[in-house]
Amino acid sequence: MTLALTTAGESHGPALVAILTGLPAGLTLDRAAIDADLHRRQQGYGRSPRQQLEQDEVEVLAGLRHGRTLGTPLALLVRNRDHRNWEWGMNPWPPEGEPSGKGAKPVTLPRPGHADLAGVLKYGHDDVRNALERASARHTAVYVAAGSVAKTLLSELGIGVAGSVLEIGGEREGWEQAIDAARADRDTLGGVVEVRASGAFPGLGSYATREDRLDARLAAALMGIQAVKGVEVGDGFALAHERGSAAHDEIEPGLRRRSNRAGGIEAGVSNGEEIVVRAAMKPLPTLMRPLDSVDLATGEPAQALVERSDVAAVEALAVVAEAVVAWELARAAREKLGGDALVDMKAAHAAYLERIRTR
Ligand SMILES: Cc1cc2nc3c(=O)[nH]c(=O)nc-3n(C[C@H](O)[C@H](O)[C@H](O)COP(=O)(O)O)c2cc1C
Repeated sequence: MTLALTTAGESHGPALVAILTGLPAGLTLDRAAIDADLHRRQQGYGRSPRQQLEQDEVEVLAGLRHGRTLGTPLALLVRNRDHRNWEWGMNPWPPEGEPSGKGAKPVTLPRPGHADLAGVLKYGHDDVRNALERASARHTAVYVAAGSVAKTLLSELGIGVAGSVLEIGGEREGWEQAIDAARADRDTLGGVVEVRASGAFPGLGSYATREDRLDARLAAALMGIQAVKGVEVGDGFALAHERGSAAHDEIEPGLRRRSNRAGGIEAGVSNGEEIVVRAAMKPLPTLMRPLDSVDLATGEPAQALVERSDVAAVEALAVVAEAVVAWELARAAREKLGGDALVDMKAAHAAYLERIRTR
Protein backbone atom coordinates (compact mmCIF):
# COMPACT_ATOMS: atom_id res chain seq x y z
CA MET A 1 0.00 0.00 0.00
CA THR A 2 1.22 3.45 -0.83
CA LEU A 3 -0.22 6.93 -0.75
CA ALA A 4 -1.92 8.04 -3.95
CA LEU A 5 -3.41 11.35 -4.97
CA THR A 6 -5.93 12.07 -7.73
CA THR A 7 -7.16 15.57 -8.46
CA ALA A 8 -9.77 17.12 -10.74
CA GLY A 9 -10.99 20.63 -11.36
CA GLU A 10 -10.86 23.52 -13.78
CA SER A 11 -9.70 26.99 -12.83
CA HIS A 12 -13.17 28.57 -13.09
CA GLY A 13 -15.31 25.45 -12.77
CA PRO A 14 -17.48 24.83 -9.72
CA ALA A 15 -14.75 23.29 -7.51
CA LEU A 16 -11.45 21.46 -7.22
CA VAL A 17 -11.38 17.98 -5.74
CA ALA A 18 -8.69 15.63 -4.47
CA ILE A 19 -8.91 12.02 -3.40
CA LEU A 20 -6.12 10.76 -1.14
CA THR A 21 -5.78 7.02 -0.66
CA GLY A 22 -3.46 5.03 1.60
CA LEU A 23 -3.53 7.34 4.62
CA PRO A 24 -3.29 5.50 7.92
CA ALA A 25 -6.32 5.47 10.18
CA GLY A 26 -6.16 7.52 13.35
CA LEU A 27 -4.44 10.64 12.05
CA THR A 28 -5.92 13.77 13.60
CA LEU A 29 -6.46 16.54 11.06
CA ASP A 30 -6.96 20.21 11.84
CA ARG A 31 -9.22 22.10 9.46
CA ALA A 32 -7.67 25.43 10.47
CA ALA A 33 -4.18 24.14 9.60
CA ILE A 34 -5.28 23.08 6.10
CA ASP A 35 -7.06 26.40 5.56
CA ALA A 36 -3.96 28.25 6.78
CA ASP A 37 -1.88 26.51 4.11
CA LEU A 38 -4.52 27.31 1.48
CA HIS A 39 -4.36 30.92 2.61
CA ARG A 40 -0.54 30.94 2.39
CA ARG A 41 -0.76 29.78 -1.23
CA GLN A 42 -2.93 32.80 -2.04
CA GLN A 43 -0.46 35.30 -0.55
CA GLY A 44 2.60 36.91 -2.02
CA TYR A 45 3.57 40.16 -3.64
CA GLY A 46 2.58 40.36 -7.29
CA ARG A 47 -0.45 38.09 -7.22
CA SER A 48 -3.59 38.91 -9.20
CA PRO A 49 -6.74 40.37 -7.58
CA ARG A 50 -8.32 36.92 -7.81
CA GLN A 51 -6.54 36.03 -4.58
CA GLN A 52 -8.54 38.69 -2.72
CA LEU A 53 -11.71 37.57 -4.42
CA GLU A 54 -11.39 34.01 -3.18
CA GLN A 55 -10.58 32.79 0.30
CA ASP A 56 -9.99 29.10 -0.19
CA GLU A 57 -11.41 26.72 2.39
CA VAL A 58 -11.30 22.94 2.48
CA GLU A 59 -14.41 20.79 2.75
CA VAL A 60 -14.09 17.11 3.58
CA LEU A 61 -16.52 14.76 1.89
CA ALA A 62 -15.25 11.37 3.00
CA GLY A 63 -12.58 9.51 4.92
CA LEU A 64 -12.75 11.55 8.13
CA ARG A 65 -14.87 11.17 11.24
CA HIS A 66 -14.78 13.66 14.10
CA GLY A 67 -11.43 14.93 12.85
CA ARG A 68 -9.67 11.56 12.59
CA THR A 69 -8.88 9.64 9.43
CA LEU A 70 -10.68 6.35 8.93
CA GLY A 71 -8.05 4.71 6.71
CA THR A 72 -10.48 5.06 3.80
CA PRO A 73 -10.14 7.41 0.81
CA LEU A 74 -10.07 11.00 2.01
CA ALA A 75 -12.04 13.26 -0.35
CA LEU A 76 -11.26 16.99 -0.24
CA LEU A 77 -13.06 19.80 -2.02
CA VAL A 78 -12.12 23.46 -2.53
CA ARG A 79 -14.78 25.60 -4.17
CA ASN A 80 -13.96 28.16 -6.85
CA ARG A 81 -15.89 31.10 -5.46
CA ASP A 82 -15.22 32.98 -8.68
CA HIS A 83 -17.34 30.39 -10.52
CA ARG A 84 -20.40 32.57 -9.94
CA ASN A 85 -19.02 34.94 -12.60
CA TRP A 86 -18.47 32.03 -14.99
CA GLU A 87 -21.73 30.16 -14.60
CA TRP A 88 -22.57 30.23 -18.28
CA GLY A 89 -18.97 30.03 -19.55
CA MET A 90 -17.85 27.13 -17.36
CA ASN A 91 -21.15 25.32 -16.89
CA PRO A 92 -20.52 21.55 -16.83
CA TRP A 93 -23.83 21.12 -18.68
CA PRO A 94 -25.18 22.85 -21.80
CA PRO A 95 -26.06 26.26 -20.35
CA GLU A 96 -29.51 27.73 -20.65
CA GLY A 97 -30.13 31.24 -21.91
CA GLU A 98 -27.97 33.64 -23.87
CA PRO A 99 -24.17 33.55 -23.42
CA SER A 100 -23.32 35.76 -20.46
CA GLY A 101 -20.58 36.45 -17.95
CA LYS A 102 -16.95 35.46 -18.21
CA GLY A 103 -15.77 32.67 -20.49
CA ALA A 104 -18.76 33.06 -22.81
CA LYS A 105 -16.64 34.13 -25.77
CA PRO A 106 -14.25 31.51 -27.24
CA VAL A 107 -10.54 32.23 -26.86
CA THR A 108 -8.52 31.89 -30.09
CA LEU A 109 -5.32 33.79 -29.16
CA PRO A 110 -2.82 31.28 -27.71
CA ARG A 111 -0.24 32.63 -25.25
CA PRO A 112 3.38 31.64 -25.88
CA GLY A 113 4.55 29.68 -22.83
CA HIS A 114 1.11 28.49 -21.79
CA ALA A 115 -0.82 25.31 -22.59
CA ASP A 116 -2.97 27.12 -25.13
CA LEU A 117 -1.53 26.10 -28.49
CA ALA A 118 -0.22 22.63 -27.63
CA GLY A 119 -3.48 21.94 -25.75
CA VAL A 120 -5.87 22.76 -28.59
CA LEU A 121 -3.74 20.85 -31.10
CA LYS A 122 -3.48 17.77 -28.90
CA TYR A 123 -7.13 17.57 -27.82
CA GLY A 124 -8.80 18.98 -30.90
CA HIS A 125 -10.39 21.97 -29.17
CA ASP A 126 -11.58 25.12 -30.93
CA ASP A 127 -11.76 27.19 -27.76
CA VAL A 128 -8.36 27.64 -26.07
CA ARG A 129 -10.24 27.88 -22.76
CA ASN A 130 -10.82 24.11 -22.90
CA ALA A 131 -7.04 23.67 -22.53
CA LEU A 132 -6.06 26.53 -20.26
CA GLU A 133 -8.67 25.93 -17.57
CA ARG A 134 -7.04 22.72 -16.38
CA ALA A 135 -3.48 23.68 -17.24
CA SER A 136 -3.82 26.73 -14.98
CA ALA A 137 -2.11 26.56 -11.60
CA ARG A 138 -5.41 27.11 -9.83
CA HIS A 139 -5.63 23.42 -8.99
CA THR A 140 -2.39 23.63 -7.03
CA ALA A 141 -4.84 24.60 -4.25
CA VAL A 142 -5.74 20.95 -3.79
CA TYR A 143 -2.08 19.89 -3.93
CA VAL A 144 -1.62 22.26 -1.02
CA ALA A 145 -4.57 20.73 0.86
CA ALA A 146 -3.14 17.23 0.27
CA GLY A 147 0.32 18.44 1.25
CA SER A 148 -1.07 19.85 4.46
CA VAL A 149 -2.45 16.41 5.34
CA ALA A 150 0.94 14.89 4.45
CA LYS A 151 2.72 17.38 6.72
CA THR A 152 0.45 16.33 9.58
CA LEU A 153 1.41 12.70 9.01
CA LEU A 154 5.12 13.57 8.75
CA SER A 155 4.97 15.60 11.97
CA GLU A 156 3.88 12.40 13.76
CA LEU A 157 7.24 10.98 12.60
CA GLY A 158 9.22 14.05 13.64
CA ILE A 159 9.67 15.34 10.11
CA GLY A 160 9.12 19.03 9.28
CA VAL A 161 8.92 20.46 5.76
CA ALA A 162 9.28 24.15 4.88
CA GLY A 163 9.42 26.00 1.58
CA SER A 164 10.90 29.44 1.05
CA VAL A 165 11.72 31.88 -1.74
CA LEU A 166 15.41 32.30 -2.67
CA GLU A 167 15.00 34.85 -5.44
CA ILE A 168 12.45 36.59 -7.64
CA GLY A 169 13.41 38.16 -10.96
CA GLY A 170 17.08 37.63 -10.12
CA GLU A 171 16.78 39.57 -6.82
CA ARG A 172 17.74 37.71 -3.63
CA GLU A 173 16.12 40.42 -1.52
CA GLY A 174 14.09 43.53 -2.16
CA TRP A 175 12.19 41.73 -4.89
CA GLU A 176 9.08 43.85 -4.31
CA GLN A 177 10.76 46.61 -6.33
CA ALA A 178 11.53 44.19 -9.14
CA ILE A 179 7.89 43.08 -9.13
CA ASP A 180 6.66 46.70 -9.14
CA ALA A 181 8.96 47.46 -12.08
CA ALA A 182 7.75 44.40 -14.00
CA ARG A 183 4.13 45.36 -13.31
CA ALA A 184 4.78 48.90 -14.55
CA ASP A 185 6.23 47.41 -17.73
CA ARG A 186 3.22 45.04 -17.94
CA ASP A 187 5.68 42.15 -17.76
CA THR A 188 6.12 39.08 -15.53
CA LEU A 189 8.87 37.46 -13.42
CA GLY A 190 10.02 34.02 -12.29
CA GLY A 191 12.34 32.94 -9.51
CA VAL A 192 13.79 30.17 -7.38
CA VAL A 193 12.32 28.40 -4.33
CA GLU A 194 13.82 25.97 -1.86
CA VAL A 195 12.24 23.24 0.24
CA ARG A 196 13.97 21.78 3.29
CA ALA A 197 12.84 18.73 5.22
CA SER A 198 14.31 18.24 8.67
CA GLY A 199 14.11 15.09 10.77
CA ALA A 200 13.84 12.78 7.75
CA PHE A 201 15.21 9.39 8.79
CA PRO A 202 17.61 7.43 6.55
CA GLY A 203 15.93 4.98 4.20
CA LEU A 204 13.20 6.96 2.41
CA GLY A 205 13.18 5.91 -1.24
CA SER A 206 15.36 3.25 -2.80
CA TYR A 207 18.03 2.65 -5.42
CA ALA A 208 16.26 -0.60 -6.38
CA THR A 209 14.42 0.90 -9.35
CA ARG A 210 14.35 4.26 -11.06
CA GLU A 211 10.75 4.78 -9.92
CA ASP A 212 11.72 4.25 -6.28
CA ARG A 213 14.48 6.85 -6.19
CA LEU A 214 13.56 9.64 -3.80
CA ASP A 215 15.47 12.25 -5.81
CA ALA A 216 13.63 11.23 -8.98
CA ARG A 217 10.30 11.33 -7.18
CA LEU A 218 10.93 14.76 -5.71
CA ALA A 219 12.12 16.08 -9.08
CA ALA A 220 9.01 14.74 -10.83
CA ALA A 221 6.76 16.19 -8.13
CA LEU A 222 8.38 19.62 -8.42
CA MET A 223 8.47 19.54 -12.23
CA GLY A 224 4.80 18.63 -12.09
CA ILE A 225 4.05 22.12 -10.80
CA GLN A 226 3.15 24.68 -13.46
CA ALA A 227 6.02 26.91 -14.65
CA VAL A 228 8.78 24.91 -12.90
CA LYS A 229 11.57 24.44 -15.44
CA GLY A 230 14.50 23.33 -13.32
CA VAL A 231 15.04 21.25 -10.19
CA GLU A 232 18.17 20.52 -8.18
CA VAL A 233 18.86 18.30 -5.20
CA GLY A 234 21.45 19.57 -2.73
CA ASP A 235 24.19 21.50 -4.50
CA GLY A 236 22.84 20.15 -7.79
CA PHE A 237 24.26 21.99 -10.76
CA ALA A 238 27.11 23.53 -8.72
CA LEU A 239 28.49 20.02 -8.06
CA ALA A 240 29.27 19.72 -11.76
CA HIS A 241 32.07 22.29 -11.28
CA GLU A 242 33.65 20.55 -8.28
CA ARG A 243 36.18 17.78 -7.81
CA GLY A 244 35.02 14.67 -5.98
CA SER A 245 37.09 15.63 -2.94
CA ALA A 246 35.05 18.83 -2.62
CA ALA A 247 31.69 17.40 -3.65
CA HIS A 248 30.89 14.60 -1.21
CA ASP A 249 29.86 14.63 2.42
CA GLU A 250 32.46 12.86 4.55
CA ILE A 251 31.22 10.49 7.26
CA GLU A 252 32.15 10.93 10.91
CA PRO A 253 31.75 8.61 13.89
CA GLY A 254 28.10 8.61 14.92
CA LEU A 255 27.41 8.39 11.18
CA ARG A 256 26.99 12.16 10.91
CA ARG A 257 28.23 14.14 7.91
CA ARG A 258 30.65 17.06 7.76
CA SER A 259 28.62 18.74 5.06
CA ASN A 260 25.37 18.25 3.17
CA ARG A 261 26.12 18.89 -0.46
CA ALA A 262 24.05 15.89 -1.44
CA GLY A 263 20.96 17.53 0.02
CA GLY A 264 20.24 14.53 2.24
CA ILE A 265 19.84 12.00 -0.57
CA GLU A 266 22.40 9.47 -1.85
CA ALA A 267 21.59 6.81 -4.44
CA GLY A 268 17.95 7.79 -4.32
CA VAL A 269 17.74 7.14 -0.56
CA SER A 270 17.49 9.68 2.25
CA ASN A 271 20.67 9.53 4.36
CA GLY A 272 19.41 11.20 7.55
CA GLU A 273 20.68 14.69 6.75
CA GLU A 274 18.35 17.56 5.97
CA ILE A 275 16.67 17.09 2.58
CA VAL A 276 17.24 20.15 0.39
CA VAL A 277 15.69 20.67 -3.05
CA ARG A 278 15.25 23.74 -5.21
CA ALA A 279 12.99 24.59 -8.12
CA ALA A 280 13.35 27.30 -10.78
CA MET A 281 10.18 28.99 -12.05
CA LYS A 282 10.02 30.68 -15.43
CA PRO A 283 8.34 34.10 -15.81
CA LEU A 284 4.57 33.66 -16.07
CA PRO A 285 3.27 33.46 -19.64
CA THR A 286 0.28 35.82 -19.38
CA LEU A 287 1.63 39.32 -20.05
CA MET A 288 -0.46 42.46 -19.84
CA ARG A 289 1.64 43.62 -22.80
CA PRO A 290 0.90 40.53 -24.88
CA LEU A 291 3.44 38.64 -26.97
CA ASP A 292 3.05 37.96 -30.66
CA SER A 293 0.76 35.10 -31.56
CA VAL A 294 -1.66 33.98 -34.24
CA ASP A 295 -5.46 34.11 -34.15
CA LEU A 296 -6.45 30.47 -34.54
CA ALA A 297 -9.80 31.53 -36.03
CA THR A 298 -8.19 33.42 -38.93
CA GLY A 299 -4.58 32.23 -39.09
CA GLU A 300 -3.53 35.90 -39.04
CA PRO A 301 -0.89 37.48 -36.77
CA ALA A 302 -2.42 38.75 -33.53
CA GLN A 303 -1.56 39.55 -29.92
CA ALA A 304 -1.86 36.77 -27.34
CA LEU A 305 -4.73 36.53 -24.86
CA VAL A 306 -4.68 38.97 -21.97
CA GLU A 307 -6.56 37.88 -18.88
CA ARG A 308 -6.29 38.59 -15.19
CA SER A 309 -2.95 37.22 -14.11
CA ASP A 310 -0.17 37.31 -11.55
CA VAL A 311 2.99 39.36 -12.17
CA ALA A 312 4.94 36.82 -10.11
CA ALA A 313 3.84 33.74 -8.19
CA VAL A 314 7.14 32.59 -6.73
CA GLU A 315 5.95 32.98 -3.12
CA ALA A 316 2.95 30.81 -3.95
CA LEU A 317 5.25 28.32 -5.63
CA ALA A 318 7.20 27.97 -2.37
CA VAL A 319 3.98 26.84 -0.66
CA VAL A 320 3.03 24.46 -3.47
CA ALA A 321 6.57 23.04 -3.63
CA GLU A 322 6.50 22.47 0.13
CA ALA A 323 3.21 20.61 -0.30
CA VAL A 324 4.36 18.28 -3.08
CA VAL A 325 7.65 17.52 -1.31
CA ALA A 326 5.70 16.72 1.86
CA TRP A 327 3.41 14.45 -0.13
CA GLU A 328 6.34 12.54 -1.67
CA LEU A 329 8.09 12.17 1.68
CA ALA A 330 4.89 10.94 3.33
CA ARG A 331 4.44 8.45 0.49
CA ALA A 332 8.00 7.18 0.91
CA ALA A 333 7.52 6.96 4.69
CA ARG A 334 4.30 4.98 4.23
CA GLU A 335 6.15 2.54 1.98
CA LYS A 336 9.06 2.15 4.41
CA LEU A 337 6.97 1.79 7.55
CA GLY A 338 3.66 0.36 6.36
CA GLY A 339 0.81 0.99 8.74
CA ASP A 340 -2.92 0.77 8.17
CA ALA A 341 -3.13 2.53 11.51
CA LEU A 342 -1.01 5.48 12.62
CA VAL A 343 -0.15 3.64 15.83
CA ASP A 344 1.43 0.80 13.79
CA MET A 345 3.30 3.27 11.66
CA LYS A 346 4.75 5.01 14.70
CA ALA A 347 5.71 1.68 16.29
CA ALA A 348 7.50 0.62 13.09
CA HIS A 349 9.24 4.01 13.00
CA ALA A 350 10.47 3.64 16.59
CA ALA A 351 11.66 0.05 15.99
CA TYR A 352 13.48 1.07 12.82
CA LEU A 353 15.20 4.03 14.50
CA GLU A 354 16.29 1.70 17.31
CA ARG A 355 17.74 -0.80 14.85
CA ILE A 356 19.80 1.77 13.01
CA ARG A 357 20.84 3.54 16.23
CA THR A 358 22.80 0.47 17.31
CA ARG A 359 24.90 0.49 14.09
C1 LIG B 1 1.23 29.25 -8.05
C2 LIG B 1 1.27 29.50 -9.51
C3 LIG B 1 0.55 30.58 -10.03
C4 LIG B 1 0.56 30.83 -11.41
N1 LIG B 1 -0.13 31.92 -11.86
C5 LIG B 1 -0.08 32.20 -13.19
C6 LIG B 1 -0.74 33.36 -13.71
O1 LIG B 1 -1.38 34.12 -12.98
N2 LIG B 1 -0.63 33.61 -15.03
C7 LIG B 1 0.07 32.79 -15.89
O2 LIG B 1 0.14 33.06 -17.07
N3 LIG B 1 0.69 31.68 -15.42
C8 LIG B 1 0.63 31.37 -14.12
N4 LIG B 1 1.28 30.25 -13.66
C9 LIG B 1 2.06 29.42 -14.61
C10 LIG B 1 1.22 28.68 -15.63
O3 LIG B 1 0.20 27.94 -15.03
C11 LIG B 1 2.12 27.78 -16.50
O4 LIG B 1 3.21 28.50 -16.98
C12 LIG B 1 1.34 27.17 -17.65
O5 LIG B 1 0.37 26.27 -17.15
C13 LIG B 1 2.22 26.44 -18.66
O6 LIG B 1 2.88 25.36 -18.09
P1 LIG B 1 4.48 25.30 -17.96
O7 LIG B 1 4.94 26.65 -17.60
O8 LIG B 1 4.72 24.29 -16.87
O9 LIG B 1 5.03 24.86 -19.29
C14 LIG B 1 1.29 29.99 -12.29
C15 LIG B 1 2.01 28.91 -11.75
C16 LIG B 1 2.00 28.67 -10.39
C17 LIG B 1 2.78 27.51 -9.82
